[in-house]
Amino acid sequence: MASATEVNLTLNDAKVLTALFDSGTSNFAHAAISRQAEPLADVSEPEFKRLSKMQSDALRTINHANPSKDTVRTAVDTLSRILEEEPRFAPAYANRAQATRLLIDGDDIIRSANAKTIENITLDLQLAIDLASPSSPNQPVSPTRAKILASSHTHMGSLLLLASRVQDPDEVPSILRPESGRSAEELASHHFRLGGLYGNKMAQEMANVRDNYNIDGYEDRSSLKITLIFTVTSWKSGRKLKRIAAMPTTKFQTEEKYQYLNGFGSYHESEAISGALPVGSNSPQKCPYGLYAEKVSGTAFTAPRSENLQSWLYRILPSAAHESFAPCGLDSGAHSLETEPLQYVPDQLRWSPFAIDWSVDWVGGLRRIGGAGSPVMKSGMGYYVFTAGKDMDEKTAFYSADGDFLIIPQTGTLDIKTELGQLLVRPNEIAVVPRGLRYRVTLHQGEPARGYICELYQGHFTLPELGPIGSSCLANARDFQAPRAAFEEDLGSKWSIIAKFNNRLFSGSQSHTPFDVVAWHGTYYPYKYDLGRFNTIGSISYDHPDPSIFTVLTAQSPQVGTAIVDFVIFPPRWLVQEDTFRPPWYHRNVMSEFMGLISGDYDAKEGGGFMPGGASLHNVMSGHGPDSASFEKASKAELKPAKVGSGSMAFMLESCLMMGVTEWALKTCEKVQGGYNLESWMPLKVHFKHPEQKHHVWRQAMTVAQVPELPYASAYFAASLAVRAGRARGEHLSADHRSLNPSGSEPLLACHTTCREGFRIGQSVAALEYLDEAHPDTYPLLPPVSDPEARAAVRTLVGIICTDTQPVTNMRVMKAVRALGTREDRTASLTYWGKLWSGY
Ligand SMILES: [Fe+2]
Repeated sequence: MASATEVNLTLNDAKVLTALFDSGTSNFAHAAISRQAEPLADVSEPEFKRLSKMQSDALRTINHANPSKDTVRTAVDTLSRILEEEPRFAPAYANRAQATRLLIDGDDIIRSANAKTIENITLDLQLAIDLASPSSPNQPVSPTRAKILASSHTHMGSLLLLASRVQDPDEVPSILRPESGRSAEELASHHFRLGGLYGNKMAQEMANVRDNYNIDGYEDRSSLKITLIFTVTSWKSGRKLKRIAAMPTTKFQTEEKYQYLNGFGSYHESEAISGALPVGSNSPQKCPYGLYAEKVSGTAFTAPRSENLQSWLYRILPSAAHESFAPCGLDSGAHSLETEPLQYVPDQLRWSPFAIDWSVDWVGGLRRIGGAGSPVMKSGMGYYVFTAGKDMDEKTAFYSADGDFLIIPQTGTLDIKTELGQLLVRPNEIAVVPRGLRYRVTLHQGEPARGYICELYQGHFTLPELGPIGSSCLANARDFQAPRAAFEEDLGSKWSIIAKFNNRLFSGSQSHTPFDVVAWHGTYYPYKYDLGRFNTIGSISYDHPDPSIFTVLTAQSPQVGTAIVDFVIFPPRWLVQEDTFRPPWYHRNVMSEFMGLISGDYDAKEGGGFMPGGASLHNVMSGHGPDSASFEKASKAELKPAKVGSGSMAFMLESCLMMGVTEWALKTCEKVQGGYNLESWMPLKVHFKHPEQKHHVWRQAMTVAQVPELPYASAYFAASLAVRAGRARGEHLSADHRSLNPSGSEPLLACHTTCREGFRIGQSVAALEYLDEAHPDTYPLLPPVSDPEARAAVRTLVGIICTDTQPVTNMRVMKAVRALGTREDRTASLTYWGKLWSGY
């Protein structure tokens, strides 16, 4: 396997490099490139051509010596839009990384001031590499993929090499800091090697220098500076995608390499050597081949048969043969998993994607976000994010005595060797490793990994009941995969076993491998599941079911129907409901909801703040729902059958427990989005329209003038209580008001920002019509043009008020009428004029 951990190139070791790339010849090693290979998985040819055209148009504007910053930003924005439409379009990541780099001034780009930009570039490059890499090193790649890989690996190598030249380590962004024991130069050489393999001449040149790591005059080599690749503009493959059958499985970038036992909750048995399993007896006096029998239990011995989880392991040495455990020091400082005082926040919380730490392995990269309950009392659960930039040490295994790990990779493939066999877990797959089982996590081809973990302290995950759905659908039992027995013989080596025990990490040594189980049988085992196989159920009439309809796994509390945690997904699905607001409704939930995004865009959020690798928490009774943009879009959408969530996979961990949050999650990680709730829901507009149209017209007019963000002064606008009070005090006759409206009357609509200076309207109907025309999409005062009768009805009402009714109630008119006659005539005069003007 060509992983970073296997690239054994150091400052003083050019031999391996020389062996790979003979500097004296031009026979550089090349990867297999074939036009018959698939250009880009899961991107159709028409879509590929359309996006390539968009990309070419954008890049053409900056593909010259000195593009302006604005031009580059425009190109970056276009590339971002392309990726919003199709997150799997790998060349756009590579090109966006290079275009973004053009925005950084100077050659010494590796500075703390550029940390965020460098992080974005690095993540883009990693995504391009993820998407374009073949599933195995020897698998041919298309010319399109080769160019992406050549460019991205070379770009990554140049960043790492530049990072290695920086004197002050604090100036190097964390994403470019290799783990201890490995240098940035080594990682750079790894990427140059791969860039060269896929045909980048610069990378080949770098690799062909015998002393690759001490290149004098590096900074002067213009060839090492950024060169844009604008190459992917046509469909390169001569082979069309083969769709043998529309199988509901994920099209993984990484090819499967293990075989499994199928079935959830099944009684499985597996032996790596035929005859290793005893027949009949679980613990014979002498086990086959001199193995030890060891039982591992996941429930009390006396648990009901339907819930009982036990397995028998037949191994070379029992797990009991180890030295004493001691705190291993990993659980201090940034690595803290200890039970710290959690904080309880009623606000909605959202996190930007968590940074990938290249310096840590699976154990060192565990970060607790929060949780509820206690592993001591075996109640509740904990939530984590994990990042890993390197494999676990070769002779190291990990287990948790606290709870079952539900592992949800978001990027990077996890190769998990467990006592019971091996699991390959890729993004869009999940794995569950029950408490107590030892395992070691390595990375696929050295690619860093990030994802989420739910650790269940209480009970175990089960499949949800199906009720009226019937006997199948949702996650079908047959699609869960357990490992087949596999073992190694390693006696005499020193192994470290790291135990997570009440959220502290302990380490103990043993002189034999923990992965020596030759055969096993039982019901307690790790397993994995492809989320692409989920059989989604939804409404085919109106409304939509509660999100519990998307439950993959559940862990129930003693209260029937109430989960300690439900693992729920939002997969690609069809929406066909009629007369229905299709996104989730607004709600406050008695349960807490923690969400993450594995890929794509979640259909209930439009703002872009909920990103793959990020998260959100809507705690108990914290109101939430679609953001303002999603509501506006969905409430106007044409309700034809629509596929949502293509290329996307979001998930939710829903718990009946109030979730506490760690200091790391709230502050240390620096990923909390401060304006989440304000930006999502404060912009929600008032759409309420009073059913009585007559009142509606005037109420809306007043509302328009009083909306803070509209540029109108409403202090003297008609009919508000404040204005009436002001008028009673004669303020409308004041010099201040007369300076605005010399007639001393109201209403007065004054525009104070966007209109030309001095623009004012002193008549009600003119003000209403102006507002209606100036803001046609906001608070419409008249029915639509398509309904002329209704518009006439509204105008009639306005006319009655303004022309017939209001004049006789106007103070100025009343005073004039009174002046026409004697004191005795006043009442009769008013009555006469009232009847005459109003017609009633
Ligand atoms: Fe919710």
